Amino acid sequence: MIDKNLVAAPGSPDRVLLDALDLARLPRHVAVIMDGNGRWAKQRHLPRVEGHRAGAAAVRDTVETAARLGLDALTLYAFSTENWKRPKTEVSTLFTLLKEYLRRELRTLAENDIRFRVVGRAEGLDGSVRSALDLALEATAGCRGMVFSVALNYSGRAEIADAARSLAREAAAGRLDPESIDEDAVSRRLYTSDLPDPDLLIRTSGEMRISNFLLWQIAYAEIHVTPVLWPDFRCRHFLEALVDYQRRERRYGGVSEADEAGAPPAPAALEA
Ligand code: FPP
Repeated sequence: MIDKNLVAAPGSPDRVLLDALDLARLPRHVAVIMDGNGRWAKQRHLPRVEGHRAGAAAVRDTVETAARLGLDALTLYAFSTENWKRPKTEVSTLFTLLKEYLRRELRTLAENDIRFRVVGRAEGLDGSVRSALDLALEATAGCRGMVFSVALNYSGRAEIADAARSLAREAAAGRLDPESIDEDAVSRRLYTSDLPDPDLLIRTSGEMRISNFLLWQIAYAEIHVTPVLWPDFRCRHFLEALVDYQRRERRYGGVSEADEAGAPPAPAALEA
């Protein structure tokens, strides 16, 4: 049961958005490509890392909103395998911010029954980062509320390649009949195997790209792109994305209910 007052104060602009939502039709899993930290900093004549620092506050706000709305899963894209190409100081600041975030927020995550997760090749990360991640994984392992995943050293293509390798190994060992491999068999070998596919993918900063994020899982996701830069992304923008999501008609390659029933288009629609 959602406590609306915890998400948005009565009478606030956020509450108007919240009241416009059908709480029974919220997405189960929302994935977010957090983009625009560098541009946010540039607009303020600050170093890029200050954009990432401000972005960490947006992470806190987004996790809180998603958990209070009772979503099953939230996945944030924090560091791609391509991000290693950035200057060393920027990379190390990003991981420092992640460690600081976990140090500050871990207790709150556990208290709110939020299970922390990493998707990506965690073995490629620095020892101190892995220790901080392991601590967060252990501390929230028993939580049964929202699953909060952070994509780190992540590549959607690498994830699919990892799943293919795992299937090939099982087949070579005689534990799997290659003829039995179907979409479900691939899904079960992805990092997100126990999560529903994202229903909604949000990308901030106006860029119209997928950037190698959850390539398999977003096959039928609705995509919401907002011009808001990630450090400015707050509850209001999350709620706007959800309102937009609920306006869409998800057909999964089928036809709309009206078309299925053979209903003629409304005259207003013909005029539009
Ligand atoms: C994209 O902005 C953002 C990132 C590559 C990193 C996101 C990281 C954080 C928000 C920091 C903390 C993370 C957690 C999970 C606590 P960009 O630098 O590509 O922006 P630009 O396109 O404007 O240059």
